[in-house]
This record gives sequence, structure tokens and C-alpha cells, in this order.
Amino acid sequence: MNTKVSPVIDLSRKKDGTNDLAAFTRDVAEGLNRKQKHLPSRYFYDGKGSRLFQQIMDLPEYYLTRSEFEVLTENREAMAAQFSREGYFHLIDLGAGDALKTKILLHELARQQCAFDYVPVDISGDAMQQLTESLHTDLPQVRVEAVVGEYFTALEWLQENKSERKVLLFLGSNIGNFEELESIAFLKEVRSYLQPGDRLLMGIDLRKNPDTILAAYNDKAGVTAAFNLNLLHRINRELGGNFNVDQFYHYAMYNPGEGVMRSFLVSKTDQEVFIRETGQKFHFEAWEAIHTENSHKYSLPQVAELGETCGFQIETVFYDGQKRFADVLFTVR
Ligand code: AVI
Repeated sequence: MNTKVSPVIDLSRKKDGTNDLAAFTRDVAEGLNRKQKHLPSRYFYDGKGSRLFQQIMDLPEYYLTRSEFEVLTENREAMAAQFSREGYFHLIDLGAGDALKTKILLHELARQQCAFDYVPVDISGDAMQQLTESLHTDLPQVRVEAVVGEYFTALEWLQENKSERKVLLFLGSNIGNFEELESIAFLKEVRSYLQPGDRLLMGIDLRKNPDTILAAYNDKAGVTAAFNLNLLHRINRELGGNFNVDQFYHYAMYNPGEGVMRSFLVSKTDQEVFIRETGQKFHFEAWEAIHTENSHKYSLPQVAELGETCGFQIETVFYDGQKRFADVLFTVR
């Protein structure tokens, strides 16, 4: 049993010497100078955006989080048994946050007295500190070594410092926010840090009735709209922009042919916006759109193909009762 709270390992210093503000400025300028204007969805998550995302996860229309909770709750015994079949392992949780979902598995692994340690990885130092402390209270028998940093910096550190078998968690349909080529590049890179016998449990939002999907990104209370529009508030706050946010609106559309949910911010009028940090003015025609997010929905054959392409093989697919969401357990080939 641990008597002291373990220290958090901080790998968050940028290797290339750039800071977060410089990267944000560069990405905003590059995206707004494109013919089809674009802002990367990773900038949704400042303090306000993260709070709005917490609210999204509680919305009646946003089935994804509840469905994944159900998948993990209903299948926790089998998952824990499969993870620990070959003995000791490191459970690495990419983008752990408050680890609310992962705690379902941690309690089960502890109940089955499995030999493992838990390595949550997140870019937020505060989140990793709070998680370490809450686990120390709730599950003092679990060894926790939280890492603050980007996914691949953390995986590189783990490769050098942890020789035991690895089970990687990538929950919450985060893979869905990558473009197709990005998801392949991401999973190939993940694979390069793993060995045959290691495993990956990945959350996938499955294809379903398009109306169900559209409602999840266009909720009646307008929380998703506020989440999307917060990106413009963030540019105003952090980069000295003068967006009149009321002159933009949230528009979400689902293409069932491609299985992609696309979100936009549409300019209601012809207008100009100056962003101090970029030193540039950007012109918006009336009804011109900024593309802000893609959320890909997968069929199972597509998931299998994605895995195969990147060096993974499906071991088990765990579903919720309505087969809306799957946590797919892959082994490394
Ligand atoms: C984080 N990610 C999986 C969410 C999704 O469903 O694509 C982000 C989100 N965007 C709008 N609502 C939720």
C-alpha cells in the first residue's frame, strides 16, 4: 500500500523551443488564410472550453459518453481479465483527464488483484495532480505514476523507462477527431512504441441513425454551439482578436456517406476581423464558413482495416446494449 502521493512526471517543456501562444498564432493565421477557412479543434479546450465539454458529456443528446460508460461497466470483468492474462503490465491512459471512465477499470483490476501500475498521461498538470491525489484516497493499493506531456513525448519516455508489457487506453472516441490520414499516422506512431503482446483499447463511435448523430452535435440547449463559438472568444482573449462573436453561428452537418460529422462557424454578414498577434486582417463574406471540427463515425470493418494498416489486430469488440459505441481491444501484431 502507498503511504505517500507519487510525484507527477512533467515532460511538458516544448522540444522545439516554441511556446503555446506562438503555435496558436501560427495555426490560426494559417487556417484563416486558407481558401476554406479552418481552425483546429484542439484549440477548443481552454478552461472555458473544457468546462463546456464537461457539460456536453451530460447532455441528453450526447450519447457517446453514457454509451462508453455502459461498455466499460458491463464488460469490466472480461476487460480486466484480458489485460492481466500474461501477468504484470503498465496501464497507460492517453488523455486521462479526470479518468472517470478509467476508474471503472481501475476498481475492477484492484478487485481482481491484478498486478499492474497505472500511468495516466495528459497535457494538463493540474488534472494529473488532482487525479494522483484522488486515486491515492480511493484506490491506495494502485501504484500511480502520472505523466504531464504530449502523447508521443510520454510514449517515448515510457519506452525508455518502462520495460514491462503495456496496455494502452485511448478512450472517448478521440480518434474520431483526426482526419483519415492523421489517424493512420497517429496509430502507426503509437504502434512504434509498442511490442508484440502489448494491447490497445480504443473508444470508437459507431455509425448509426444519422439523426441521432446530428442531434448529439446540435443540442437543443445550445451547449455545443457555445463550445464551438468559444474558439472565437479564445482568439479574442489570447491573440487580441476583435471577432464580434454574435455575428457567427454554429452549424453542424452529418454526411452519412462518409460517416463524418462536420462543424462550422458561419459568418452572418460580410465583415473584417483583426487579430493582433497575427498582425493580419481577415475578411469574411456573408455566409462564409470556418471549418472547426470533424468527428468520424466508424463501421466495424473500417475499424478492423484501420487497425490492420497500423499493425494492430482486433482481439475483442466490447459494445453497449444498443451497439452505439464500441471499445475495441487490439493486440499488437
Ligand atoms: C472529444 N471529442 C471526441 C468530441 C467529439 O464527439 O467529437 C468533441 C465534441 N465536439 C462537439 N461535441 C463534442
